[in-house]
Amino acid sequence: MKGNVIKLPAPSLKGDISLEEALAGRRSLREYSGDSLSLEEISQLLWAGQGITKDNLYRTAPSAGALYPLEVYLIAEKVEGLEPGLYHYIPKGHKVKLLKKGKLLKTLAEAALGQRAIHNCSAAFIITGVVKRTSKKYGERAEMYVHIEVGHAGQNILLQAEALGLGAVPMGAFYEERVKAKLGLEKEPFYIIPVGRK
Ligand SMILES: Cc1cc2nc3c(=O)[nH]c(=O)nc-3n(C[C@H](O)[C@H](O)[C@H](O)COP(=O)(O)O)c2cc1C
Repeated sequence: MKGNVIKLPAPSLKGDISLEEALAGRRSLREYSGDSLSLEEISQLLWAGQGITKDNLYRTAPSAGALYPLEVYLIAEKVEGLEPGLYHYIPKGHKVKLLKKGKLLKTLAEAALGQRAIHNCSAAFIITGVVKRTSKKYGERAEMYVHIEVGHAGQNILLQAEALGLGAVPMGAFYEERVKAKLGLEKEPFYIIPVGRK
């Protein structure tokens, strides 16, 4: 770790199942075994969501004008090699930065109608966005574009979870202001995706 920044293991470009099998097998899962996730699995999931794949710019998910308005955060609670806390994913260099220490899933669940999946997952991904980055070029269409992009990134994480044999569920039912206040986030949270072992 260097100044609270942790370099993640390189993502793998080979998986155990085909894209078609991941599409066919993906199901929202809300109960998990409670076992820890590995740092490799977390690395793979973050890369699937927003990892850089070309020219130190282009990413796994498409983005209007390649402006990349999304920022992905991770609440790690049971992850080997990461102390519990809130992390920010940095696509350049494939790193995470520890922003806040502590077990934060209970706090997150409270801002999300107490949903059990958040209570019993091992880690939760929060996809946020900065509409301003896109509105500079696309004006009023930016908000819609950012929402579309959240869907791309979310589906990538869900399919990657399935390919790794993990359970996950996309969640939109939460109070945005409470999530921001409780975690100290400035960006707009759009999706919460708890992940755990099946
Ligand atoms: C925009 C959106 C918001 C959702 N919000 C929640 C949620 O807050 N809690 C939850 O348990 N599931 C949530 N879901 C998951 C849906 O319930 C689930 O996708 C649906 O039942 C279909 O099942 P499947 O994902 O297994 O295909 C959400 C799905 C979408 C697309």
